[in-house]
Amino acid sequence: MQLISVVSAMALVPAAFSYSVAGRLIARDDDRGNETVSGLGSRKQAVLDVGGTTRDLAIAMLETKTMTTDYTYGDGKTGDGTNFGIFKQNWYMLRTSASEFLGETVGQVDDGAILNSDLGKDVQARHDGEEHYGYDVWFSGHRDGQSGVEDPDTADITGYKDAVAWIQEQIESDTKFQTDDTRFWVDVQAI
Ligand SMILES: *[C@@H]1O[C@H](CO)[C@@H](O)[C@H](O)[C@H]1NC(C)=O
Repeated sequence: MQLISVVSAMALVPAAFSYSVAGRLIARDDDRGNETVSGLGSRKQAVLDVGGTTRDLAIAMLETKTMTTDYTYGDGKTGDGTNFGIFKQNWYMLRTSASEFLGETVGQVDDGAILNSDLGKDVQARHDGEEHYGYDVWFSGHRDGQSGVEDPDTADITGYKDAVAWIQEQIESDTKFQTDDTRFWVDVQAI
């Protein structure tokens, strides 16, 4: 959208509209929704089968469209920031809270790659993390690594946490959403 039309549109839009971080003009209700992703239902079932919860489904659903690990290795990140598994858990959180990696160094980061192929370990590692850090700090460190753990109350972290909570709420609104191909999404900034 051209800047000029954004500005002129502003005079006409109702109060429900607001600017997003990226400067796009969006309706608040338009930053979230649902879509059908073929095969997602069996993927959800696979996550539930290894002990996953509706919160696990929600996080994975937010992170990738297919709830899989077929993204760029590490999500293109290195060191403690490297991401693994369907939740894109970062190496800092994994090595400081998941029993599978507890006490490992930054240099051992490639050990985390097992989560890309072992769904059971992936889910277990996330559960370990939330148990170790607690709900709020786990989300903070998940979103922002060590700095998130040290400073858990940023607007970005709150936005991410709220997005997951909303998706979880939609999934829990009807049990069919635990096994059908519906994906709920929220437009959160990729970091
Ligand atoms: C999916 O989104 C559409 C709008 O795009 C909405 O009408 C519908 O109620 C939503 N479905 C669910 C299950 O939330």
